[in-house]
Formats: sequence, structure tokens, C-alpha cells
Amino acid sequence: MNARILIIDDERLLRWSLRRKCQDWEYEVVEAESIEQGKTVWSEEQPDLVLLDVRLPDGSGVDLLRAMRQEHAAAQVVMITADPKVEDVKTALRLGAYDYLTKPIDFDELQLTISNALEVNKLRKQVNALQDEVRRVNGGMQVVGRSPQMRSIMDFVAKVAASEATAILIQGESGTGKDLIAQSLHAMSSRSEQAYVAVNCSAIPENLLEAELFGHEKGAFTDARTQKKGLFEMANGGTLFLDEIGELPLMLQSKLLRVLEDQSFRRLGGVKDLKVDVRIVAASNRNLEEAARSGQFRQDLFYRLMVIPIFIPPLRNRRDDILALANFFIEHYNVRFRKKIEGLTHEAEQLMLNYDWPGNVRELKNAIQRAMILEDSSRIRPTYLPFYHESGPLLTSNVAFPDQQQNSAITADSKTLPNGRQVPLWRIPSAGTSMEEVERVMVTQALSQTHGNQSQAARLLDISRDALRYKMKKFGLENGEAAQ
Ligand SMILES: Nc1ncnc2c1ncn2[C@@H]1O[C@H](COP(=O)(O)OP(=O)(O)OP(=O)(O)O)[C@@H](O)[C@H]1O
Ligand SMILES: [Mg+2]
Repeated sequence: MNARILIIDDERLLRWSLRRKCQDWEYEVVEAESIEQGKTVWSEEQPDLVLLDVRLPDGSGVDLLRAMRQEHAAAQVVMITADPKVEDVKTALRLGAYDYLTKPIDFDELQLTISNALEVNKLRKQVNALQDEVRRVNGGMQVVGRSPQMRSIMDFVAKVAASEATAILIQGESGTGKDLIAQSLHAMSSRSEQAYVAVNCSAIPENLLEAELFGHEKGAFTDARTQKKGLFEMANGGTLFLDEIGELPLMLQSKLLRVLEDQSFRRLGGVKDLKVDVRIVAASNRNLEEAARSGQFRQDLFYRLMVIPIFIPPLRNRRDDILALANFFIEHYNVRFRKKIEGLTHEAEQLMLNYDWPGNVRELKNAIQRAMILEDSSRIRPTYLPFYHESGPLLTSNVAFPDQQQNSAITADSKTLPNGRQVPLWRIPSAGTSMEEVERVMVTQALSQTHGNQSQAARLLDISRDALRYKMKKFGLENGEAAQ
């Protein structure tokens, strides 16, 4: 596809000659003659490059550039100016304009600048795509993980998968990816050609679970009319995934421990010891250590499983993964729903980054799926994110200031009044905070809620727009970086 160039200049003759040249070089061309019109054309046409006049009838091209940066526009911008010494040109370069050209335009220089800028843009996109989705294909399983935590987990998983280990325990909150990691452990191991058998210990009634796991001989109990192999035998040579191991009845815990110790067991009603070679991958979303301490889970089994522990942190503690996962699922559903969604708008990204994800990756995946069904423009907008209308989760300031996570952040839960109205319930951390911090949280929050609209944000806080701007400056919240 040919690159698309947007020419924004109020001189009709110059636009005409620029258009002709660009078309000669096989670019697609769209035009605008003012900032206002430029904004519309830019958002409708999503050009790859903008040739932007500095001085336009309705303002400075720099303002448009700034707006584009706030929207995270991928387009390269080349300024056109009669006087390269004006302050606006410097500002434009600081804001990330690729270069500037001086009127009268030298067309050779123009051609070279355009092709270089587009080349840089292409490379930048490739680098972003690679960095954003440092995902690994583990025997067909795609585990997205850009955060240092996930990277080191995946290194560990690769080592464990290749090892002789016969018992592995994966812990993590619901939706963090325990199933996925269990499957990659199998897929990356030398057992991958053999069976992968998964059982959820809480899903099978206790009285059936033993027969299900260990099988039974004919006549072992009333309904046992024939001999039946259990899941351990079916997983022989491969992997048995015991999900929600914490729910395994105590009696079966000791039987499991025995299998782990000497790789043998008996069917129900059987007299013969059967040998199996099975790798047990157990998973739990409750704290097994506590369960072991309180006697609900056998300590010896806990320690046996804990020889190789894998802990997957909740998504809110590895925020670097949020956008990488979001983009990954967008691609996934693009294929499934035959859509061409390119990503999230800047505001939607901020909202995702600021949200706490109690349901972890599963919740994020569902959120993207829902948004992609509803969204009909090219990027997912905040309105379609399920948590857009709640204000509660956004109020957590550790989100906005990751470096101060637990210590000085004020947080709010919501409290429901008897009349059903929800009000924030503020909590000050025991280590204390400062009024300045409170102010910073509120300013960030107001900007985030109004999607960066300063007049609205100022109104929310009942201060003047100048006062807001002053505070934004003080807290380094300018240029749409409200939540960084
Ligand atoms: N790092 C990841 N990369 C890609 N997809 C992921 C990742 N983590 C989780 N997922 C996806 O998120 C969903 C939930 O993950 P999974 O079922 O593995 O969670 P879980 O920890 O087993 O949850 P539960 O405790 O509720 O069983 C799945 O569709 C899974 O494929
Ligand atoms: Mg699971």
C-alpha cells in the first residue's frame, strides 16, 4: 500500500504543487487548508506523514502537532516554514516533528525528507511491535509477557519444562494464567508427544474423585461393572494437571503424595501396585501455605509440591504487561471477528493502565473481546471498556505513581450508603501522605476522568483553568501525560 500524505497549508498554489510532486512519487495525497480542517482530515484519513505549515489562518501548526502527539498519532510530521528561526519551529522539533523544510520548497530535499521520515516510521512501528509483544511461542502456546516478572517466569518455565521434575506447583490469583503456564510446561517438555490430562479437583464430587483419578477394578463398588483406568494411567508418560489442588480431600492428598514419592498406586479395589511415569503440575489460587498451616492441606504434600514453585503475580503488579496483552488479544479477535481494529486510543490505554484488574488477564481478555464487538471505529475508545463508567478503581493513586506504590498513596474504595448511593471512602496509608500528594492524585484523576479536557477538569475541581495549568506544570502532568 502506498504511504498517505496529508498536506496542510493555506496557500492553494503551494498545496497544488506539493500534491503533484507527491503523486509523481506515488504517494496518496489528502489536503487541508486550516488547523480545523486538518484535524478532521487527519483523524479520518490516518495519514502516514503530514506536511504541516507553521503559520495557518486559524493558529499555529504547532498546536495541531501537539494535539496529534496527545492522541499518540503514528504519523511523521514535517513542518513547512518561511522562517526556520521562529520559535514555533523549535517547539515543533521538540514535540517530535521529524524535520522542517524552508519555503520556497526544494523538491529534491522534499523527496528525500519524505522517504527518510517514512522509513523511520516503518522501523519504529516494527520495533514497537516487537517490544510490545515480547511473547514467546512455547510449543504453540503464546504467553505474552513484557514485564520483568513475566520474562523471568518464562525463563524459569523453560528450564523446569526441560528438567526431570515430577512435581510443580503454580500459584496465582484467578485469571493470572495458571492453566496457560501448565500447558506450556507440558508443550515445552520431552513429554509433549504424550497425554496432557487436566482435572479440576473442585469440579468432581468427592466420592467420585478417587475412582476418577486412580481408576477401579471390576466389582470395586456397586456401580463398578467393569475395570476402569484412572486419569493417572491415562496421563502415563505425560502430564497430569491438577487444578485447584487445595480442594483435594485429605484422604486423596495422601494417596497423591505416595504417587509422587514412588510413582506407584493402586486402582480402587486393586491389589497390585501400578507403576506410572507422570509429571504432576498442580495449581491453586488460594494460599496453600496457609491451608497447610491450618491443617486443611497436608504439610508434607505442600512441601513436596513446593520443591518447584511458580508464582504468577496479579496483573496489577506487572502493569508493563497490560498493553502488550491488550494488543495481543486485539490481534486475536481481529482474526476471529474479521475486524481491523488497530489498537486502543490514548485515553483507553490510560484507562487500562490505571485499572486494577481484579480478574487479571481473564478480565482483560473479556474486556477486549466485548469492546471489539461494540467498537466500529479503528481504535477502541474508552466508552466501550466495561469499567469506564465506574470511578472507583481509577481513584487508586498507586496507579498513577507506580514508584510510590504502597507507602504514600491515598486510596479510595467505594462505600454504599443506605440509600444506595456510592461514595468514595478515603483511606490514608498508615505511613502517612502529604497534602501535595493528595492534590496530585486529584488533579491526575480529574484530567483522566475528563480525558484531558482542562476546562472540564478545572470545573470538576472548582478551580480556574489557570490554577489547573499551574498545578499540571508543578506536577509534570503536561502534554497528555497525566497518568505517567
Ligand atoms: N501471559 C498471557 N499471555 C496470553 N494469554 C494469557 C496470559 N495469561 C493468561 N492468559 C489468558 O487469560 C485467560 C485466563 O488464564 P488462565 O485460564 O490460564 O487463568 P488461571 O490462572 O488458570 O485462572 P483460574 O484460577 O480462574 O483457573 C486464558 O484465556 C489465558 O489464555
Ligand atoms: Mg485455571
